Amino acid sequence: MRPLQCVLQAQRRGPLASVSWLLLRTCRARSSVQGTTCPSPERQQENGVRKDFSSRLAAGPTFQHFLRSALDPQEKPDVEDPPPYLTVDELSGRQRKVYLETYGCQMNVNDTEIAWSVLQKSGYLRTRNLQEADVILLVTCSIREKAEQTIWNRLHQLKALKTKRLRSRVPLRIGILGCMAERLKEEILNREKMVDILAGPDAYRDLPRLLAVAESGQQAANVLLSLDETYADVMPVQTSPSATSAFVSIMRGCDNMCSYCIVPFTRGRERSRPVASILEEVRKLSEQGLKEVTLLGQNVNSFRDSSEVQFNNAVSTNLSRGFSTNYKPKQGGLRFAHLLDHVSRVDPEMRIRFTSPHPKDFPDEVLQLIHERDNICKQIHLPAQSGSSRVLEAMRRGYSREAYVELVHHIRESIPGVSLSSDFIAGFCGETEEDHLQTVSLLREVQYNMGFLFAYSMRQKTRAYHRLKDDVPEEVKLRRLEELITVFREEATKANMASVGCTQLVLVEGHSKRSATDLCGRNDGNLKVIFPNVEMEDVSNSGVRIRAQPGDYVLVKITSTSSQTLKGHVLCKTTLKDSSAYC
Ligand code: 5AD
Ligand code: SF4
Repeated sequence: MRPLQCVLQAQRRGPLASVSWLLLRTCRARSSVQGTTCPSPERQQENGVRKDFSSRLAAGPTFQHFLRSALDPQEKPDVEDPPPYLTVDELSGRQRKVYLETYGCQMNVNDTEIAWSVLQKSGYLRTRNLQEADVILLVTCSIREKAEQTIWNRLHQLKALKTKRLRSRVPLRIGILGCMAERLKEEILNREKMVDILAGPDAYRDLPRLLAVAESGQQAANVLLSLDETYADVMPVQTSPSATSAFVSIMRGCDNMCSYCIVPFTRGRERSRPVASILEEVRKLSEQGLKEVTLLGQNVNSFRDSSEVQFNNAVSTNLSRGFSTNYKPKQGGLRFAHLLDHVSRVDPEMRIRFTSPHPKDFPDEVLQLIHERDNICKQIHLPAQSGSSRVLEAMRRGYSREAYVELVHHIRESIPGVSLSSDFIAGFCGETEEDHLQTVSLLREVQYNMGFLFAYSMRQKTRAYHRLKDDVPEEVKLRRLEELITVFREEATKANMASVGCTQLVLVEGHSKRSATDLCGRNDGNLKVIFPNVEMEDVSNSGVRIRAQPGDYVLVKITSTSSQTLKGHVLCKTTLKDSSAYC
């Protein structure tokens, strides 16, 4: 049976390789568990074709099998047929314990839950104890060199663990999932022979099969990117029952092609999840008592669900004034404003946030909605990346400094009191001292409440890699980064000072990490608020005094601030609807 499996997989490699990167590498020098040696795929193909072609054909995948796998994920039956070359038993997790470790962005946290949901359905158990794991899966990030270095270091540590288990009844299997698997593909398998499986961001449904192949001592990989995979029907498993907030993935991939960014290459083309399935997930979370939902995607506000037929199919996306795209205008489909409107109506006591947006996609209808709806947080992430129009052009961001600043003013006029945050890159290709000072001046001018600042890291495959020179020395990048961080902190402290004396609505998360007598929560702008855990009045139960619990909304009078945290004292427990009257 084993050689047949190799043949089938080797055959699949040929035609698909020209379309995309489905990599199935099944033959390892140390051979399969049953002791059969596995010749090269090419040799097997030759032998196989000559020998019992018709019997193998009968046992292989049928035309119906391929048709079924081409179905829309929504229409796929809950229980899929196993691939014809693996038995149901081989595909089952058989209670093997999986240890999942997540690196990088919030999208990866969400992907970890998707991967777990797929494996759980397949009969795997989850463990939080590395020592008892049968399978270790790392959900990886490629955005900067440092992120990948962390994974290589981790793999080194895991090597020792795997060697110890070589003679055990169930050998340890190690998998690399996500962006790094997608970016490096077989390079990982060649460099680290101890890695058993690779699964790109669009291949998590395939995990049971990849693990089944790995079970026989072979390496297996699926790094095929999809044009339509959104995992719409895979509900992530809510792992922490006491959680007050959840992330809901609404779209995947990115079409923007900023010149420095690897994301379009690791996560593929932009595609949106159908509105109906997003609303269903938000409703479920509301029924579970969750109080905050963050809509998640690489470009949330470019959302465009074209899964249903619409009458206004000729309408193209409204961009922010002065902004352009690197792609042709997209027409038709349900847009972000529509989604935000419907999501915010699900539960008026549920806070809605979204991340990460692109500044180009903030038409007035989105800003108006954020202003009008009490439960849409007045908080916008507006990644500028640089304050220099020259650098922005080299980055292919589709806007100038002037257009960006104008948008900031327009947002502040449309949503009074809005909290703004941004991402910046220090030391991009060709960035001069003058360009850097322009970024410093943008930080001063906008006075962000939160910031995420990075030193530029050249990534292969990107436009910058092919066309530009990574010519800012490392020490200069780091010095400029330090300067940006200092200025950001100064300005954020000033911006946050404006809240002192104000009463703010805070969603309680739990105990403060630093003090057992304090509680911690988040205000509307997503800043951390710390306050003493004391008894207070419950406004909906007058006369009753209680202590705040995770998931409660409380009013906190702010007494002091830093660049990252606010402190205050709690006034009362309230509801989101009753709390509109505060400064
Ligand atoms: N180097 C440094 N920072 C980067 N980012 C994206 N690509 C790179 C890179 N090559 C930053 C951008 C983006 C954030 C998620 O990561 O600021 O908004
Ligand atoms: Fe990367 Fe630009 Fe897409 Fe953001 S918008 S994921 S920075 S390419």
